[in-house]
Amino acid sequence: MSKTIELAKVVGQQVLNSSTKLIEVYAPKIANEAVPGQFVNVKVCKNTAPLLRRPFGVAGVNREAGTFTLMYRIIGEATHILAEVCSGDELSIVGPLGKGFDMSAKKPLLVGGGLGLAPLLFLAQGFGVGKSDILMGGRSASELFWTDFYEGLSEKVFLTTDDGTAGTKGTVMAVLPELLASGVYDCVYVCGPVPMMKAVANACLEANVKCQVSLEKYMACGLGACLSCACEGIGKRIKVCKDGPVFWAEEVGEW
Ligand code: FES
Repeated sequence: MSKTIELAKVVGQQVLNSSTKLIEVYAPKIANEAVPGQFVNVKVCKNTAPLLRRPFGVAGVNREAGTFTLMYRIIGEATHILAEVCSGDELSIVGPLGKGFDMSAKKPLLVGGGLGLAPLLFLAQGFGVGKSDILMGGRSASELFWTDFYEGLSEKVFLTTDDGTAGTKGTVMAVLPELLASGVYDCVYVCGPVPMMKAVANACLEANVKCQVSLEKYMACGLGACLSCACEGIGKRIKVCKDGPVFWAEEVGEW
């Protein structure tokens, strides 16, 4: 695991919806090393509080430009501070951290919801244009601005919404069993709310399709030193920051 600390320059920010932003930063070393599934720990330099760094999954890289992107929801003090930074401001970033996704799938199906769709975007980029399919779920059509990013990157985009305002009405589980039964996919990659990941992992187990999950836990150090992210795996304790955040579904005992 690389522990590079890079002083990154903010290239710019983009508003994705009322509570979500995309930030692009210039940090050539991390942009060059990061693989899909890894995360970085970010601290805004011009502000000393909050003291702890915050982890964000990498949402995409542009190695030629030396930049990478993060997507985040503005929900606490740290992300409010981050939302205020402008082009040219500096961030102290540790990374890339953690273990990335297995990239050996021939036909990958990505399944995500909420901010889980950010690391999956980097995964779709890693597989290459037209290689993966994506199934995304949200409460309503307004949450699925993600389609703008996935269309043209993934081959097929399947949508579900709780209220039926876009795609199939229901959760991703309204569509997933049929996709698994098609026999098209040799691996499913899921990232999103815990009930979604659990349901997807169980459906994959039943259908005998490999499944990787990207877990989200509170992380204080992000380096395997503090145990704040520890949870029960099958037969052993696992640290999400160091042993993951990506795991094979059968490795996870506690979600
Ligand atoms: Fe400290 Fe994982 S965040 S051990």
